Amino acid sequence: MADKPKLLSTVLGGEQVPPHLARSVIEERLRNAIIEGRLPPGTAVRQQELASLFGVSRMPVREALRQLEAQSLLKVVMHKGAVVAPLIGEDAVDTYDLRLMLETQALRESIPRLEASDIEKARGYIAELENETRHTEIGRLNRLLHLTLYSKARNQKLLRLIENELNEEERFLRFHLSSMGLGKLTQDDHNALVDAASDKLVDEAVSILQAHITNAARTIRDYLNKQSAS
Ligand code: NI
Repeated sequence: MADKPKLLSTVLGGEQVPPHLARSVIEERLRNAIIEGRLPPGTAVRQQELASLFGVSRMPVREALRQLEAQSLLKVVMHKGAVVAPLIGEDAVDTYDLRLMLETQALRESIPRLEASDIEKARGYIAELENETRHTEIGRLNRLLHLTLYSKARNQKLLRLIENELNEEERFLRFHLSSMGLGKLTQDDHNALVDAASDKLVDEAVSILQAHITNAARTIRDYLNKQSAS
């Protein structure tokens, strides 16, 4: 991806910040811009450019970039320095295979122990999704809805793994949802899934979830193929 000159300054604003706040201000601005997709994957994030943008030395900039690298939002590329990390990409198929395994297992464990209040909460997220058009919110609500349905699984480590995968998907969706259009189909799945969970129909719920994840995987794969062909 060609570097767009001045992208950093356009996106981040930039003002003189007191040196003792520089690291946290820069880290937060960059994190939001990356998560919201304003800085696309592959964008070069240069230390010197950030330092002059915020009127600080390179040291706090370096520390901020290190934090973001630890959160997998930046990646250091040889001879290029830090760039915004790629989204689900080459390993998208593996990601979804893994999600299928993890999430169906969690759902199986969780359904028998779900309470009426959990079902109510899940329906609340679906209702919010119905009227939501902001991509950032759609990604977040989808994640919360799924996690609510898995929340009573006994294996907490399993839930943490799932949350990581869903975070990754959320970041992807924030960035690409407008051109992909998962919309209505997904909501039908969500409604059927919560109905089955509410009726304690474990096998039925699991097969709905399988179809839901498989369908999302296919949509994303087709989308990525089209992207790389163009
Ligand atoms: Ni979903």
